[in-house]
Amino acid sequence: MTSQLSSLALLLSGLRGSDLLSSADLSGDQTLALLQLAAELKSGRRSIDLGGKTLGLIFTKASTRTRVSFTVAMARLGGQTVDLHPSVTQVGRGEPVADTARVLSRYVDALAIRTFAQQELAEYAHWASIPVINALTDLEHPCQALADYLTLQEAFGGIEGLTLAYVGDGNNVAHSLLIAGALLGVNVRVGCPEGFLPDPAVVEQARGLAGSRCRLEVLHDPVATVRGAQALYTDVWASMGQEQEQTERERAFAGWCLDEALLSEADSRAIVLHCLPAHRGEEISAGVIEGNASRVFDQAENRLHVQQALLAAVLGAF
Ligand code: CP
Ligand code: NVA
Repeated sequence: MTSQLSSLALLLSGLRGSDLLSSADLSGDQTLALLQLAAELKSGRRSIDLGGKTLGLIFTKASTRTRVSFTVAMARLGGQTVDLHPSVTQVGRGEPVADTARVLSRYVDALAIRTFAQQELAEYAHWASIPVINALTDLEHPCQALADYLTLQEAFGGIEGLTLAYVGDGNNVAHSLLIAGALLGVNVRVGCPEGFLPDPAVVEQARGLAGSRCRLEVLHDPVATVRGAQALYTDVWASMGQEQEQTERERAFAGWCLDEALLSEADSRAIVLHCLPAHRGEEISAGVIEGNASRVFDQAENRLHVQQALLAAVLGAF
């Protein structure tokens, strides 16, 4: 028990001061350690004090779960957040990232940033001397993937060797599921219509991380994607920033709704996940999201626990 605890602390101490720009910024062991710490924080077996620490939130896109869960996570750890929305800072008037990041590093202890371009996030991380956390970009959503795999772990006890099937748009959420799945030994199938596949560079990166430990597949048929899987996952067809493509995407994704018929092709114990917000009747049926297999609200809750674990690690609680 003592050696288990100390190895967890050792793994997490390696994250002190680190950025999380991509799921690939963590090793498999660090990812597992964060899930373990999140589970301990959730059950009340462990408490952490981040008193005096401040997290800055720079969100240039809408958010319910990520914004609120980061805010509540810091409050529960005894710290605080400051909302740095570009419309109320000089960022909105064009102050360079290089200056903003260096100034904010003198005031706050970490930044959680939601924006469009991964490159902008990387630029903040380059100039900041504090940890920078990806709170969603067009490329990745690593905090979401941590919560997703914690939810899978809760449902099945362990996760290595399970199969998660993602159907829909090969987007930011799919990318982080592929990378984190590779690190955790989860087989990930991503099924998408032609033209909406995940970025081939991300798939290649994830396969490199997986080695022979698990299979990462990109498929073009929804039934083949979900057959026998232990977790079915979907996300909106038009992500933030793609609203003008909504009608075109609804046409392209016809037949890709995660509905009762698709769910019946999965493992009989399969759980249903969705990062939310969801569009019932589009990417998921109302019956499936409200049905017995759905874990979407546990999954949303788990954002809070994994982000507490992440903040504790990067802010040096270990
Ligand atoms: N899943 C997720 O990131 O939700 P928000 O956009 O509400 O933060
Ligand atoms: N893919 C979605 C996820 C929202 C949490 C988006 O980027 O809008």
